[in-house]
Amino acid sequence: MRPGFHWTTFNLTSRLPANWHRGIIETAAGADFREFPRTPILSREAAGVSYIRRGRVHADQVQEVLPWLYRLYRNDFLELARRAWAAEPVMPAQDDRYGIVLNVQRGTAMRFECHVDSNPLTGLLFCTDHLAGGELVFGHDQGGADVGAVERDCSVIQPIAGHLIFFDGRHHPHYARPLMSESDTRIVAVMNYYTRSCPESTRPPELNRHRFGDP
Ligand SMILES: [Fe+2]
Repeated sequence: MRPGFHWTTFNLTSRLPANWHRGIIETAAGADFREFPRTPILSREAAGVSYIRRGRVHADQVQEVLPWLYRLYRNDFLELARRAWAAEPVMPAQDDRYGIVLNVQRGTAMRFECHVDSNPLTGLLFCTDHLAGGELVFGHDQGGADVGAVERDCSVIQPIAGHLIFFDGRHHPHYARPLMSESDTRIVAVMNYYTRSCPESTRPPELNRHRFGDP
């Protein structure tokens, strides 16, 4: 039997710094909320979808306002990433522009783009709980090219504040469902890690042109 999609969860609810939650909630309130154009190469949205509305706290803001979170990304969380991925060395991103960011959904009209990852190991620290909606959904069909294909056969991960998960999202398309309540907010810290067999140098230059205007 092929292993299929799988992930590793660490429950950090009793180990994160005091007031971690409040700092993230306050920072996320000032996120960059707008229509984000679909990502080149990695998008698995239907052909007619040209943008997806959501919020992002960019990496420079995370480093400035939540320095403890940036340190965890490069230290304690890195140690856990190495436990989750014991087969080879794991490194954080050297380029701080995409190492760790916050993705934010507010109300029922936002979701996160259906896509595959370019980095071989992603860490997500869920920062909020939800009665319904906001689930992270991974399609089992590696060729799935839109949200409908992902939903037909999938693994569904319920966000739980303080849970840190690691997965290889390069092959299984995934997205975050919209929330079910207008008053709800979903926040997740997203971390890129690299491995010896898939180092940071493999990151497609198109992504940096798209996101940062690199030449
Ligand atoms: Fe992803």
